[in-house]
Amino acid sequence: ETITWSFDSAEKGGYPHFMLKEIMEQPKVLKDTIQSAINNGDNKKVIDNLDITRFNKIVITACGSAYNAGVVAKYVFERLCRILVEVELASEFRYKDAIIDEKTLVILISQSGETADTIAAMREAKVKGAVTLSIVNVVGSTIAKEADFCIYTAAGPEIAVATTKAFSAQLVLLYILAVGFAVKLGKISGEQEQELLSQIAALPAKLSALLTQVDMIQKYASTCVGYKSIFFIGRNIDYAIALEGSLKLKEISYIHSEAYAGGELKHGTISLIEENTLVVAISNCKQLFGKIMSNVEQVISRGAKVLLIGNCLDVEQNDKLSSISLPESNELFSPSLSVIVLQLFSYYVAANKGLDIDKPRNLAKSVTVE
Ligand code: G6P
Repeated sequence: ETITWSFDSAEKGGYPHFMLKEIMEQPKVLKDTIQSAINNGDNKKVIDNLDITRFNKIVITACGSAYNAGVVAKYVFERLCRILVEVELASEFRYKDAIIDEKTLVILISQSGETADTIAAMREAKVKGAVTLSIVNVVGSTIAKEADFCIYTAAGPEIAVATTKAFSAQLVLLYILAVGFAVKLGKISGEQEQELLSQIAALPAKLSALLTQVDMIQKYASTCVGYKSIFFIGRNIDYAIALEGSLKLKEISYIHSEAYAGGELKHGTISLIEENTLVVAISNCKQLFGKIMSNVEQVISRGAKVLLIGNCLDVEQNDKLSSISLPESNELFSPSLSVIVLQLFSYYVAANKGLDIDKPRNLAKSVTVE
């Protein structure tokens, strides 16, 4: 008998790439992360000790996917807490002489806790007297240690350069943080808090259900290898997660991609829409369904094909329009579902191109120099 598995593939749990393994781990990662932030979990204690009523503004600063998690969070915090939230790229924040003071809560988001720009942004915030809260995956890292408060994502080690499970864990911690702040700020009742927390607790099972659709997403992705450009559009919180869909795709598939707020298409990007472009449209915001569908019609009439992803889809598929349905959810938490499809889509496009998915060219897992 010969041994047919290698140490390398055993580490990948039988998956061809760490990225796919890490995508598949997400229901468990979400469960663990949620657990840490409710009941008597360690994160819960930190969140309870943070007096949000002291602040008149939140600034979220981060890089890459962690920044995109911050853009999602802005919509959630503003909707639930009615507090002003600014999201800044850490590389910009550190040099802009930010208008912050002791009444500002600065949230740093970082998987590694070692990203040079995010560290610099944190130090700048502290010099200006702001209170800092970090959301970090790597225990004991610089950003975890130096921030005034730190909560941890329970994603475990992430090997693939393109983040998946750490990003998803960041999202759920941010949702739970927003719910906690909303209660303390008197914006939601105890009953609403329980309802929102149970919606968050229901996410891991919804992720598992979605992950059973892998074959369908793989099949669709295999038809997308030849596109020159792929655009991602959405409105409101669907736009926020479109940013991550676009980043994931360009990181690992090397296909040109941009994310746009649907309403902004007409101010420029529509000129790039022609045959051989794909537009991925995300639609979980019920009251904006008509708006995103009118964007979909506009791009189809200019030759694009469209993949519609969402939980409020009432469309007939045809050779121009395909759709993937997501489980029902509160739209504020729907990015956690959309992103699973977006990750798998990027993964399978790159896999079909035979690329080095876990180590894309020119990219590093953690950027510790400026
Ligand atoms: C690199 C990684 C990205 C990550 C970003 C921020 O560019 O390739 O996946 O989102 O850094 O990293 P951090 O560790 O701070 O989350």
